[in-house]
Amino acid sequence: MSSSRLPGFYNLPLEERQQAINPDGQFDALTGGGLTPEAADPMIENVVGTHNLPLGVALNFVVNGREVLVPMAIEEPSVVAGASFMAKLARAAGGFTASSSAPEMIGQMQLLDVADLDAAYKAIEGAKDELLAAAAEVDPVLAKLGGGPRDLEIRSISESPIGPFLGLHLIYDVRDAMGANAVNTACERLAPRIEELTGGRVHLRILSNLADRRLARAACTIELAQLAFEGFSAEQVRDGIIEAWAFAAADPYRAATHNKGIMNGVDAVVIATGNDWRAVEAGAHAYAARDGRYTSLSRWTVDADGNLRGMLEMPMAVGIVGGATKVHPTAQAALKLMEVETASDLAEIIVAVGLAQNLAALRALATEGIQRGHMELHARQVAIAAGAEGAQIETLAAKLVAEKTVRIDRAEALLKDMS
Ligand code: MEV
Repeated sequence: MSSSRLPGFYNLPLEERQQAINPDGQFDALTGGGLTPEAADPMIENVVGTHNLPLGVALNFVVNGREVLVPMAIEEPSVVAGASFMAKLARAAGGFTASSSAPEMIGQMQLLDVADLDAAYKAIEGAKDELLAAAAEVDPVLAKLGGGPRDLEIRSISESPIGPFLGLHLIYDVRDAMGANAVNTACERLAPRIEELTGGRVHLRILSNLADRRLARAACTIELAQLAFEGFSAEQVRDGIIEAWAFAAADPYRAATHNKGIMNGVDAVVIATGNDWRAVEAGAHAYAARDGRYTSLSRWTVDADGNLRGMLEMPMAVGIVGGATKVHPTAQAALKLMEVETASDLAEIIVAVGLAQNLAALRALATEGIQRGHMELHARQVAIAAGAEGAQIETLAAKLVAEKTVRIDRAEALLKDMS
């Protein structure tokens, strides 16, 4: 991608936007063709069709010096525009820097009915090498690519509704996979030997969605001068954003909404790439509560030059091989558009989008409020719901925005007058 800046893209008619993204037909699955019912049939049970979402492309992103067009699947107005606009502000200072830890997932085993917990602990500890070697045999493909088991941790769960027991964590590097299958299979494979070693019963054997060893981080600087707009000074906007962040840092009621704004961006890319957004959501919120109190996933500060600095760190269990990422044509095209080569590349883009989305929400909330930005697109939706067609949609939407009354009853009344 030579540049993710496509001036005027927003104002182009749909066909011209499609042409700009898909000039030679290699992105047909993004611009129209997608998952057919026949292709969906083997994916889940009782298939009768498919469910579609709007697919937009976020512009202006530079992540680790690379220009990237980001596909986002989402039904909510203002999200794609917000991400694109904030990515434009971040570009002036080089865009987003992002990094990620090794793609290590955690598989959990619940060891029950053990007579002597200390003896069980020692028996597992003593057989760790043997157990890790057995886990490595589960997925030879992953092993060939440099993945595989990394460690086996034994955790003492001393207080629970059924009394004390041991929880085992199998740490597994899943490379470019989301990893649930490899990890679940490895846990199931180890369970009988662990029962033999301890005389206990391995009850649950399942991946943990608190993927806190598979973290992705993004940071950006917004130069102070970029922040002024309309009647708001740059300092006012910068400080207002930090005050808004402080609310989320201190208060779980606000943090839930603040993080929801981050997930507006995160989920849209996770969904566009065929990844498991429930897993990413679960990991995000559990991570936000890791210190015992639910808080903001992001952090906003002022740097030494007075610029606004933002950071986001969160678990990011996404893959680019296997599952829906492999069989869903739109997911394949989405990965291709971003030119990602590894799951870590994808994770890093996703957190950059999450950070941009968070900034868009805080900037709006700290200044003019969120409704104005929502109004235009929302007005179009209301116009359509009221029965407007073709050119009527824009005319009616403009009337609703001018009146600042974006309501279906008013839209219906105006439409009646128009026809
Ligand atoms: C709405 O989908 C998201 C926001 O509520 C996020 C926030 O409050 O930070 C605007």
